Amino acid sequence: MAKATLPQKDKKAISDMLVGILSDAVILYTKTRKFHWNVSGPSFMELHKLFEDQYGQLETAIDEIAEKINKMGFNTPGTMAEFLQFGSLKEAPGKYPDQIAMIRELQDDHEKVIATLRAAIKSSDEQHNDALTADFLTDLARQHETISWTLRRYQKQ
Ligand SMILES: [Fe+2]
Repeated sequence: MAKATLPQKDKKAISDMLVGILSDAVILYTKTRKFHWNVSGPSFMELHKLFEDQYGQLETAIDEIAEKINKMGFNTPGTMAEFLQFGSLKEAPGKYPDQIAMIRELQDDHEKVIATLRAAIKSSDEQHNDALTADFLTDLARQHETISWTLRRYQKQ
């Protein structure tokens, strides 16, 4: 018979994975806000609004990931120092790319997040026997896939 709760070591491993995912979400949220503030050029208003819509989606996701860490029984990090330490995405202080470079950079970051999520889904399911987390992360990956697709459509094919 299946156990009612996951073993502690699986919860810890999943929580650590979620901390990395949360950190990248916060970094990507911040980058998207920065681009919302600084975008300029012929598509200013469209991109200004597009980025606002995207950081809004990330904000919702951040809260869900953060609370999921808590549901696994662990404290959720909530400082920029920790997000930068545990995340894998890179910031670019002092850099203000043109609009097409902004779109490319964000799309690239969303693709990296999707790759991280794919690995985390596989490990949740296969190593930690946690279909709930795998399902949660699959939903999240689907949202990033849609954002990435939207950003790709703005670039030359
Ligand atoms: Fe704004």
